[in-house]
Amino acid sequence: MANQIGVIGTGYVGLVTGTCFAESGNKVLCVDIDEAKVEKLRNGKVPIYEPGLEVLFERNIRENRLHFSTDLRQAVVNCKILFLCLPTPPDEDGSADLQTVLKVAGDIGVILKEENISDLRILVDKSTVPVGTSVRVRKAVTDVWADANIDVVSNPEFLREGFAVEDFMKPDRVVIGTQNEESAHLMRELYRPFTLSGNPIYVLDEKSAEACKYAANSYLAMRITFMNEMAEFCESVGADIESVRRAIGSDTRIGKRFLFPGIGYGGSCFPKDVRALAHSAREANVNLTLIEAAEAANRRQSQRFVERIVKRFGGDVSGKNFALWGLAFKPNTDDTREAPAFRIIDQLLELGASVRAYDPEAHEGAQRRFGDKIAYAEDMYDALKGSAALIVATEWNEFRNPDFEQVKQALGSNIIFDGRNCYDTDRMDKFGFEYHSIGRATVGA
Ligand SMILES: NC(=O)c1ccc[n+]([C@@H]2O[C@H](COP(=O)([O-])OP(=O)(O)OC[C@H]3O[C@@H](n4cnc5c(N)ncnc54)[C@H](O)[C@@H]3O)[C@@H](O)[C@H]2O)c1
Repeated sequence: MANQIGVIGTGYVGLVTGTCFAESGNKVLCVDIDEAKVEKLRNGKVPIYEPGLEVLFERNIRENRLHFSTDLRQAVVNCKILFLCLPTPPDEDGSADLQTVLKVAGDIGVILKEENISDLRILVDKSTVPVGTSVRVRKAVTDVWADANIDVVSNPEFLREGFAVEDFMKPDRVVIGTQNEESAHLMRELYRPFTLSGNPIYVLDEKSAEACKYAANSYLAMRITFMNEMAEFCESVGADIESVRRAIGSDTRIGKRFLFPGIGYGGSCFPKDVRALAHSAREANVNLTLIEAAEAANRRQSQRFVERIVKRFGGDVSGKNFALWGLAFKPNTDDTREAPAFRIIDQLLELGASVRAYDPEAHEGAQRRFGDKIAYAEDMYDALKGSAALIVATEWNEFRNPDFEQVKQALGSNIIFDGRNCYDTDRMDKFGFEYHSIGRATVGA
């Protein structure tokens, strides 16, 4: 019989996890506290934008394998394996806030006790959590019921928003942290369909598994930051970061990915995970100098970009309107959490400028944050109307090859600040643009 799986928390990670496990034949019950979201899901609507998700979601609902509820009890009673895909937002001091994870663990303990469930329940932590959380989750359950028959497994998730389904279905690797043989076996079986091409499943101790996720995200954040700093260096000495990127990326020791300079990393993971790792290290009296520096340098990156814009306008942008393409923290998602575009908008508004923005998917997130403080355009060309300059903040595909004649006409100026190096500098020069990008010579100025 297929496994009965419970997924607690139906956000970007939970919904993809639940849907993909259903796709491999499991019966899945997804639970969320957000009644409106569950209602939407039950009505067959995917509440997030994630390429490829809708087809799988619809198929598995049709096949009766994917269900949604607000009732945690239903999941605890019926599902042997319970995935915790809950938020772990940053606390004021940068640490990961575990309130929700521990509260749900405690609630599971209460249900296990009330229902007198003696069969093993495996709590699988998919949220990104500090090293040692599996011990705290176990304690949150056993504090309620000392006899609870549970195992707590750490199973960090490495999916990328925008490629979440692809990443889940074909993971580079799966990391499972448990020292319990039955849990390890069940988890291996669960992930087997996704690793048939030979990608590894690593079974580690819980703490090492938890550390993997912070190590991976912090390394990637650091790599991006390194390239951002190299871009600044290239700008000041007249070198071209894109040539440097291609040349060093072809070194197999370095590799091509995550070498793209821009306006700083953002999103719901890198910023908070870097801060949480730095906080954990400080608590352990370990000095992670690279990580601390990455965080500071990343904050500076968007400031530096805005400073360049302000300088171009003689030190004063008040009263000027800027067109901005891209609000999501990266392309192919509607997620705007810690979006670099937001940092730029914040600074421009602070300086008395106004912004007219367009994003193919992320207006809702921006509206929640800025309300009517900025204008929302109908399409990418509509965003340009009467603006002092165009700012490219997210490299959606549709921004990569626009009709530049139309851009120039609608913009009312020829100035582009490209925070993602979407365009070829020679081409921009030929079109007659004054084109500012990251780590490359400005043309047309
Ligand atoms: N988003 C990513 O790309 C990504 C990738 C890897 C890991 N992670 C980690 O996974 C975790 C979840 O991230 P996310 O982006 O899916 O978050 P999210 O905010 O999109 O989703 C969290 C969901 O949990 C629900 N929830 C909150 N409290 C609940 C409760 N008490 N009971 C049931 N549901 C509850 C929320 O309503 C929401 O739907 C975080 O720790 C994150 O760091 C995220």
